[in-house]
Amino acid sequence: PRTVAIVVAAGKGERIGSALPKQFASLGGRPMLAHSVAALRAHPGIDDVLVVIGEGQQDLLADAVGEIPSTIGGATRRESVIAGLRAVEADRVLIHDAARPFVPAAVIDRLLDALSTAPAAVPVLPVADTLARGDAVLGETVDRTALHRVQTPQAFHHAAILAAHEAWPDDAEATDDAQVARAAGHDVTLVAGNAMLDKVTYPADLAAAEARLAARLV
Ligand code: CTP
Ligand code: MG
Repeated sequence: PRTVAIVVAAGKGERIGSALPKQFASLGGRPMLAHSVAALRAHPGIDDVLVVIGEGQQDLLADAVGEIPSTIGGATRRESVIAGLRAVEADRVLIHDAARPFVPAAVIDRLLDALSTAPAAVPVLPVADTLARGDAVLGETVDRTALHRVQTPQAFHHAAILAAHEAWPDDAEATDDAQVARAAGHDVTLVAGNAMLDKVTYPADLAAAEARLAARLV
């Protein structure tokens, strides 16, 4: 089967507030986007990588990763994902956030393995903190044993996830693609994620990513 990784990199990075959108900001001396694209390109199970960028970002993309298939995204992550899904010819896709720069090959292995028997698979990690409901005062503490932190890359049969996105209501929020697959009735297999896949969202996350690189943890 032909497997294509779609990296969504059309966001504005408002919570980081850097001069360049965070996916093009420097991380260990190269643009953040270059890290995940290199890992995905290097994996033997991935045939091609396509990047979804914002309007006018072709030069930033070329500076970051050189020649690479790309398409223009939309105002929301979901619109950007749909643009990517429509731009690729593939049996299987991995949908990945450019804001998660470090992609361990072992996680890709687990996702692709899972896709041989399931239409969808996502990497997850346990929740480390206590979770509780409540407003001003503590309410019920939530049992964490069946709760997960869901990361990307998320892996799907291409036709299944494209149809699922096309069936999802336009005005509804989706925080990830697995939720969209699930709503369309597909079972989503859970595989072990990795802390290296944590998303760079706030300035402190960028500092943590720099520190991981400097400590040669990736
Ligand atoms: N993304 C995208 N198109 C959008 C919005 C987000 O391709 N319209 C991508 C981002 O580039 C990022 C990933 O989706 O790689 C996860 O989104 P997030 O971390 O929220 O990034 P931003 O939306 O850029 O950041 P913020 O929400 O702080 O503005
Ligand atoms: Mg966002």
